[in-house]
Amino acid sequence: MADILVVGSLNVDLTVSVPRFLKPGETLTGSKFAVFTGGKGGNQAVAAARLGADVAMVGCVGDDANGEMYKSALKREGVRLDAIATIQEETTGVAVITVDASGENTIAIVPGANARLSVDVISGAEALFQGAKACLFQLETPLVSIQHAAALARAAGVTVILDPAPAPSKPLPQPLIMLCDYITPNETELGLLTGMEVATVEQAAEAAMKLIAQGAKAVINKRGSAGALLVAREGYRLYEGYQVTAVDTTAAGDTFNAGLAVGLAMELAVPDAIRLANAAAALSVTGMGAQAAMPSFERASALVDGLEYPCD
Ligand code: RIB
Repeated sequence: MADILVVGSLNVDLTVSVPRFLKPGETLTGSKFAVFTGGKGGNQAVAAARLGADVAMVGCVGDDANGEMYKSALKREGVRLDAIATIQEETTGVAVITVDASGENTIAIVPGANARLSVDVISGAEALFQGAKACLFQLETPLVSIQHAAALARAAGVTVILDPAPAPSKPLPQPLIMLCDYITPNETELGLLTGMEVATVEQAAEAAMKLIAQGAKAVINKRGSAGALLVAREGYRLYEGYQVTAVDTTAAGDTFNAGLAVGLAMELAVPDAIRLANAAAALSVTGMGAQAAMPSFERASALVDGLEYPCD
């Protein structure tokens, strides 16, 4: 039985390196193009597996070459594939990504098979919820299915971690919020979810308290290289990030969530799980592509301990 269960999206990322982001109507010459496996769900599954966890993925791919390519990649990473459905006459999800010279990105996605992650597909994987230690969710697949899966996780006594990404266009339904042990928005997502200012740590803590008042047990606001802000009923604390040279920040948030889940599944104290998550996320931005630079547990732990971190 897997310790970490990921329910979510699988995309193939078409990534272009550009000197700066495009303006509307502009054509710009980029320097590199590459195809990577991505999608917030797949990224979280791979990051958790690299950190040494036993991981199962629930998701959908299309009956195309991208779907086969993605399943082979997950197999190589040691992620359990039994609950990945192949949807006939559908394309695997695709993301078109531009990465600028500072490593920031823009992402446009076409959900394809991810939109077919139905309640039925989740129900078919119900046995996986029993015995898992943490479940990871995001918002690139239908909300109704995520809510169903979160309810199964909660009923099985599994820690529920929701990454509200991509940023939702309207507030999350309260029944979903109430199922969450941790909601992990970045600054943009926290602002959109609450309609509040989040520029300062104090403002972000106040906004996070709104989600806690709606039933979330805790909120972790991902603040990029500045670190992560843990907010619970009792108060808040910023855990500083680790400074690295960013090449591509794609999936830094996904790697953070995986690190948090792995740390909690290992029964680390919450602050230590957040430090592991911060370190894993920092290392993940040091290479091109969503998953290429996701670190091992040893490498992330070495960064937490302030040691020289060896290459994997
Ligand atoms: O979080 C990063 C991911 O967002 C990319 O891999 C892309 O596929 C989109 O889902």
